[in-house]
Amino acid sequence: MKKDIFDEIIGHLRELQTQDKTTFIAPEIVNEFFTDTQAAPKPESVSVPAQASVPADPVDPAIASMTLEELNSSAQKCQKCPLCTSRKNVVFGEGSPNADLMFIGEGPGLDEDQQGRPFVGKAGELLTKMITAMQFERKQVYIANIVKCRPPKNRNPLPEEANTCLPYLQRQIELIQPKVIVILGAVPLKYLLNKVGITRLRGQWDSYNNIKVMPTFHPAYLLRDPKAKGVTWNDLQQVMKLFGKVHKK
Ligand code: URA
Repeated sequence: MKKDIFDEIIGHLRELQTQDKTTFIAPEIVNEFFTDTQAAPKPESVSVPAQASVPADPVDPAIASMTLEELNSSAQKCQKCPLCTSRKNVVFGEGSPNADLMFIGEGPGLDEDQQGRPFVGKAGELLTKMITAMQFERKQVYIANIVKCRPPKNRNPLPEEANTCLPYLQRQIELIQPKVIVILGAVPLKYLLNKVGITRLRGQWDSYNNIKVMPTFHPAYLLRDPKAKGVTWNDLQQVMKLFGKVHKK
């Protein structure tokens, strides 16, 4: 992948860390990267389906009391929506069960379906760089999706698919209890917060069941429109600040 703002930040982080063993990014270094990345992003082309959202089925009482392991085994066998017929693997999610920071995407793509792991393709590589630039390790955070099975041809999940799958994610969040959730793009914005308009709402703190939520652009969108990486980095820095990962003055 071509070097981008996150590679530069990670590179500088490494340099700074070897100098004084503390982890920070000097503001002047960050500012340098913004000179050509501040352009207003185009509206995100990943659009939310126009249909009215279908209310979720009442949460399966069994799901509501499951542990993370039980939830995973249940999801692996799930046949509650048609996506089960075309999947190779269920992509339950991965990361630390005690993560303070959780990332939520839309659903598995081809690579994820083949490997059974979230965000392992090109968008996943970029997400991993974003996480590293935020001074977290991928294994410290938790990564999940709105749907656990790949929608054919990588289309957006349909409302009935998303709403059928949602109880798994809701229980994951309840068990993991992250301090912050980063919503990646329009699909999780729609189904987790019931809101539309990622371009307008990104960068603004929201909340889900008393957990702070930061909506930002999906890494796949950033691959299509790299100029939007600058504002995305602004959003991610707000999250870093909350964890005390501020730039040294
Ligand atoms: N895009 C997503 O939204 N999730 C993944 O797991 C991979 C790509």
